[in-house]
Amino acid sequence: MTDILNINRGGPTKLSFPRAASELTVQDYADPREENFFEFRDVCKAFDERLVLDHVSFSVKQGETCVIMGRSGVGKSVTLKHIMGFLKADSGRVIVDGEDVTNYTEEQFAEVRRKVTMVFQSGALFDSLTVRENISFPLDGQPGLTPEDIDEYVAKIARLLEVNDVLDKLPSELSTGMKRAVAIGRAFAQNPEAILYDEPTTMVDPIMAGHMGDLILRLKEAFHKTSIVVTHDTRLAKKLADTVVFLQEGRVTYFGPWGGFENSDDPFIVNFRKQDELIPALDETL
Ligand SMILES: Nc1ncnc2c1ncn2[C@@H]1O[C@H](COP(=O)(O)OP(=O)(O)O)[C@@H](O)[C@H]1O
Ligand SMILES: [Mg+2]
Repeated sequence: MTDILNINRGGPTKLSFPRAASELTVQDYADPREENFFEFRDVCKAFDERLVLDHVSFSVKQGETCVIMGRSGVGKSVTLKHIMGFLKADSGRVIVDGEDVTNYTEEQFAEVRRKVTMVFQSGALFDSLTVRENISFPLDGQPGLTPEDIDEYVAKIARLLEVNDVLDKLPSELSTGMKRAVAIGRAFAQNPEAILYDEPTTMVDPIMAGHMGDLILRLKEAFHKTSIVVTHDTRLAKKLADTVVFLQEGRVTYFGPWGGFENSDDPFIVNFRKQDELIPALDETL
């Protein structure tokens, strides 16, 4: 039985290889901050002269959930894309699992994408595969996994995500919320060390949004994976956040625990929180 089935496994095993001095990168000279799985140090990114990330710095500790909040267009998705290697910083450093990935090649990013998976809003499911096949896709053919192991793991994930009754259906037969749950299941089946969610509750109704938040919370409590959740939904943030990064005009204007964000008297943050209170708390009933 591989550790993929052991839901409460500890942190990842780290392998370290001696490197030549010429290969040393910034993290070799910095303080040992091994507990940080993700770190942005002074990251700047501009598109056509327009600065979208303005000296962005924050970190996410191993096993923690960090919620990145801010108005639409403020640079939340752009931040995640720097972790996945879809965008490159103009300056500053991006650290993933102790490695400075800022100048990684596409080939090196393939390795990063094996340990960090991103759940896209669209879900990106395979239309011609059943829910079961969609979830088990990353597991098929992995050495050391028997078909029974895979069945057991898919069943466990499907139970947690409440899609166990639709395992033999096709994505086209599912609601948007269920499709998204299956996409999350597939991301987990890859057994990543960390998971990134981009707006997991947009484009679904408030009841489904509350439900998605509960499912993600359940996974957080079952797996303790390092996570970053990008959202403008303060209810979702309250449910999941160990820490909050608040972006405003490309700058981090708050980085710290959820409690500090909830009690912040920064007028912009007060206003941001107020807007969400105008929407009835439908998700509280689920
Ligand atoms: N590849 C790109 N080329 C040019 N502009 C981009 C690109 N990606 C994002 N932007 C711009 O950067 C800003 C931040 O985008 P984004 O991070 O997607 O916002 P959000 O916070 O809503 O996720 C937006 O103004 C967007 O138009
Ligand atoms: Mg976005």
